Amino acid sequence: MTQATRRGPWGALWEAGRMAQEVAEGAIFRCLDPAAQTEMAAIPDVAGKVVGALKQPKPLDICMPVLNAVLAAQYYEVFEALQPPRAMTVYEPCVGASNPVILAVEAYSGGTANYLTINLNRKLRTELQAKIAHLKMSVRIIEDNAQRALRHLQPHSFDVACFHHAVNDILQTAVSEPRGMDTTAVDWFPNERQMIEWLAEDDKAGRLAQRGKPELLQIVGDAARLVRPGGYLLFDHWNWCRFIGVAWFPWDLFFNLIPMTRQWIAESGLPLSEVRLDGVDPQWWLTLKVQG
Ligand SMILES: C[S@@+](CC[C@H](N)C(=O)[O-])C[C@H]1O[C@@H](n2cnc3c(N)ncnc32)[C@H](O)[C@@H]1O
Repeated sequence: MTQATRRGPWGALWEAGRMAQEVAEGAIFRCLDPAAQTEMAAIPDVAGKVVGALKQPKPLDICMPVLNAVLAAQYYEVFEALQPPRAMTVYEPCVGASNPVILAVEAYSGGTANYLTINLNRKLRTELQAKIAHLKMSVRIIEDNAQRALRHLQPHSFDVACFHHAVNDILQTAVSEPRGMDTTAVDWFPNERQMIEWLAEDDKAGRLAQRGKPELLQIVGDAARLVRPGGYLLFDHWNWCRFIGVAWFPWDLFFNLIPMTRQWIAESGLPLSEVRLDGVDPQWWLTLKVQG
């Protein structure tokens, strides 16, 4: 994969003072629903909390509304650096109930984008729908396995695909479904430790090449076909420092999830080249451009 470095309109991405402005009153704040805006406005020292939310791995004392808004601001600044069309089409596999990419797309596009996710877990989908009901842009949620994306969607019909903290979701589903867990129906978070333990077991036994890697590469390969040439695939995977040294948690695997994904994709021969973004740590983020 070849590499080139890109900057945002303001220089390096994710400068803490600018991010604090975006989440406390600017582009991301304007896309929060009224209740979330009221909650944000009441948080003391947002600027200090933004500095914490930008740290990798994330510290223990993180403020969740600020973290979610910072994740949205990170995607927003990545869009500003890559300059897809404002009225862009965005594909996000495995959204769950997570709204940072959606807020970033709404902010970047001024509500003119078309956003689509393919997601399995039903309870999380219902939670998400409540969180994003106020947004202007078109949102479509398909309930299926993202491994079947090409049954629903046309090649070259998206500008960007976002894998927001989704690599672990795909690996966890791939190792849990064959063990009998119905990940469409379970309450995700009370069951997530079990999924991660199975993933750790398979990783330790050297089985990810048989289960995990093929599913991930299928979904990434389909995303590379769904995105038009010149468009982008974005991956992030932040981690909590509270899992360092926790016996059941596969810290080394999670710490290296993005480098491992980078290597698997490079070896797969998919027509993707890496773009390095100034200020963005390649340990936690991967930006790939679809070749023509
Ligand atoms: C905990 S949520 C995570 C949401 C978001 N990626 C984040 O980390 O903030 C995990 C979601 O990924 C979905 N998921 C995992 N593997 C999937 C697959 N192969 N196809 C579609 N959805 C999948 C699950 O059904 C669930 O809704």
